[in-house]
Amino acid sequence: MTKTALITGASSGLGLELAQLFAADKHDVVLVARRRDQLEALATRLAAERGVVARVISADLGDSGAPQRIVDELKRRNIEIEFLVNNAGFGTSGPFVERDLLRELAMVQVNVASLVHLTGLLLPAMVARKSGRILNLGSTAGFQPGPFMSVYYASKAFVNSFTEALSYELHGTGVTATVSCPGATATEFGKISGNDRSRLFEMRVMEAPEVAAHAYRAMMAGKPIAIPGLRNKVVLQMLRFGSRGMIRGVAARLNQPDRALPARKPSGS
Ligand SMILES: NC(=O)c1ccc[n+]([C@@H]2O[C@H](COP(=O)([O-])OP(=O)(O)OC[C@H]3O[C@@H](n4cnc5c(N)ncnc54)[C@H](OP(=O)(O)O)[C@@H]3O)[C@@H](O)[C@H]2O)c1
Repeated sequence: MTKTALITGASSGLGLELAQLFAADKHDVVLVARRRDQLEALATRLAAERGVVARVISADLGDSGAPQRIVDELKRRNIEIEFLVNNAGFGTSGPFVERDLLRELAMVQVNVASLVHLTGLLLPAMVARKSGRILNLGSTAGFQPGPFMSVYYASKAFVNSFTEALSYELHGTGVTATVSCPGATATEFGKISGNDRSRLFEMRVMEAPEVAAHAYRAMMAGKPIAIPGLRNKVVLQMLRFGSRGMIRGVAARLNQPDRALPARKPSGS
């Protein structure tokens, strides 16, 4: 029987790559993001190239009512979701005190609240059917505080923690939850988040197809957590040995948008 994947943030980057992977495996897809034109073009291509049913729901996940509207639309079209991919997300750069507060709050809504909301709305049917897979896009950013991207790092800490805990709770239900934790990856993310010129992004970045394929395999295997790339794995191991003060300082240096600013001295640990 054909299964359907709902992928948020499918208009570019990792979401677009993941949509292609589902379609290559002959799964139908529901593509969600704000940019309807991009979604329609992708849906048309996937239907033509892969022979799957590809539907589009244009939605702003920064709007707290969006997840319920998406699920209402699925019910109206009689679509059962087997794979939920909470991938939509963005970041911002700069000292928190200077940031546009409404944009920070929208980030929390997209990266955190809408992810929890969609999961909460779609999970009960998966558990009742004893079948389903959830893939959430966390980040290596979620394993330490990130000065100059403070809300983004905190949002990803939430996603990493929530998904790992959920995967434990779901043992034996037939449903799995996986968090993929990429490091810097070549997508539109760097430019939109304003940190494409940061030290982090000037070091080697991974390519989106490789990161998406790693996440896809981990989700299909039901793994709780997936960290793509040897370098990301090594860096995360190193975090275990550094003091909190040192870790804050390193993250600050990597994120700092303005190189004219001296890195802030880590204070205590
Ligand atoms: N690239 C990296 O270095 C990196 C590293 C670790 C984790 N991640 C995570 O990976 C995920 C995918 O990001 P990406 O790298 O593929 O970046 P991207 O190319 O910028 O894609 C982000 C996607 O999220 C969607 N989105 C953003 N705001 C939205 C909103 N308000 N409502 C609905 N959709 C929204 C965008 O679609 P529209 O603009 O059309 O709405 C787009 O499809 C994110 O959660 C990101 O935090 C990225």
